[in-house]
Amino acid sequence: MKIGIIGGSGFQNPSFFQLTKETELSTPFGNPSDVFRLGKVGDVECVLISRHGPGHTIPPTFVNYRANLWGLKELGCTHIIATTACGSLQEEYRPGDLVVIDSFIDRTVRRETTFFDGKNLTSETSGVCHIPMEPAFCSRLCDLVYETGKSAGKNIHPKATVVTIEGPRFSTISESRLFHSWGANLVNMTTVPEATLAKELGLLYVAIGLVTDYDCWNDTGRVSAHEVLRCFKENLEHMAFLVKKTVEKLSTMDWSEDIDSAKKLVKSSIV
Ligand code: ADE
Repeated sequence: MKIGIIGGSGFQNPSFFQLTKETELSTPFGNPSDVFRLGKVGDVECVLISRHGPGHTIPPTFVNYRANLWGLKELGCTHIIATTACGSLQEEYRPGDLVVIDSFIDRTVRRETTFFDGKNLTSETSGVCHIPMEPAFCSRLCDLVYETGKSAGKNIHPKATVVTIEGPRFSTISESRLFHSWGANLVNMTTVPEATLAKELGLLYVAIGLVTDYDCWNDTGRVSAHEVLRCFKENLEHMAFLVKKTVEKLSTMDWSEDIDSAKKLVKSSIV
């Protein structure tokens, strides 16, 4: 087993990660956001990639999600832990809280959404893949992250629906109130298509959100890039702790059946 860790804004180089080597990789789907950092968390082999590239230079629309995930798979990853800064759409999701994301509403419009795009770029990605999205994330990993956070006394929510917007702009007040009225819990810019592409590769994927702001639907304040980064930085140690403990725990569990059924699901979804 090997764990891929996709670091979002502010999570490029976590202190718990012992780097052994950096690898540059090009893939049939183009170039990943950054080098892949190979190393260990405790005794567990992990590969780290920074979603937005060196110095946070790649906007959400132009992240090559396909190349990032293809590279992680190529390097032997079976599990993906993704971190993401999120705005809150409901009062009870407070800035600083950690959240296990268990569903999404896709409001993106300009992204490559599938490996099976009719171009036959690899022998494994020919045909059309209609991958089921329920559950959208690996339920066993979601439960593990939540139990890990809860037993460590973190402010963590077991589930949340995230609205993924195209960005890079934030939402208007009308959009934000609409998302709030839908009952969605969070808003971000990267969970789609990352989660769906991971599923197409048979990877076990979980997304951990860190709430950084209340977007703009209520009277609490107005989101800004500066505030998002400030809040993420301030709570980085909680996210880092949760990722580290989750990796340690999951390495003691048997995932062979989960990996097997994720791969079978992909095969059975190709027409
Ligand atoms: N990431 C962090 N806060 C956000 C917000 N309010 N909207 C979209 N993405 C975000």
